[in-house]
Amino acid sequence: MTTTPDFPQPGILFRDLTGLMADGPALRQVTDALLSRMPADIDAVVGVEARGFLFAAAAAHSRGIGVYPIRKAGKLPGPLLSETYDLEYGTATIQLQPDSLAPGSRVYVLDDLLATGGTLAAAVRLLERAGYVVVGLGVAIELTGLGGREAVAGYPVHALIELPA
Ligand code: PRP
Ligand code: MG
Repeated sequence: MTTTPDFPQPGILFRDLTGLMADGPALRQVTDALLSRMPADIDAVVGVEARGFLFAAAAAHSRGIGVYPIRKAGKLPGPLLSETYDLEYGTATIQLQPDSLAPGSRVYVLDDLLATGGTLAAAVRLLERAGYVVVGLGVAIELTGLGGREAVAGYPVHALIELPA
């Protein structure tokens, strides 16, 4: 993992897993660790665009279940559900195509990183509005001190490592 100060804005410490993902054994180790925390009785793994897709697809493939993408706004045709949230830097809108997975499905959400929790909280809102059961949330890295866990209070959060923000 690399840490770049003042990217993409002054004052932000950018934690980047690009090198880890490009390293086969490291990617497998992290994916296996995320999988070990993922409950057995789930129907699909949800990945949040963009970095969440990588772990979600790897974990879903390993389990033999589907991966269900939550996209950044403007990428999918309708009908869609949308949620806007504050990010660590700026705002963003994410969208879900609710007809692509059966209502009542049990889903587990994977992302690379939990910071303020805005992304995962919006993902949970989308999934519940679509009628899915959010069983838990997994991340490789949790940045502590930003209120991320509080933003998704009530949902199990599995983080492989914790780092100060
Ligand atoms: C990053 C990261 C998480 C999110 C965490 O995504 O991949 O998804 O921020 O921040 P939060 O807990 O404060 O919401 P980002 O939207 O920057 O873009 P990317 O995944 O498309 O690179
Ligand atoms: Mg992201």
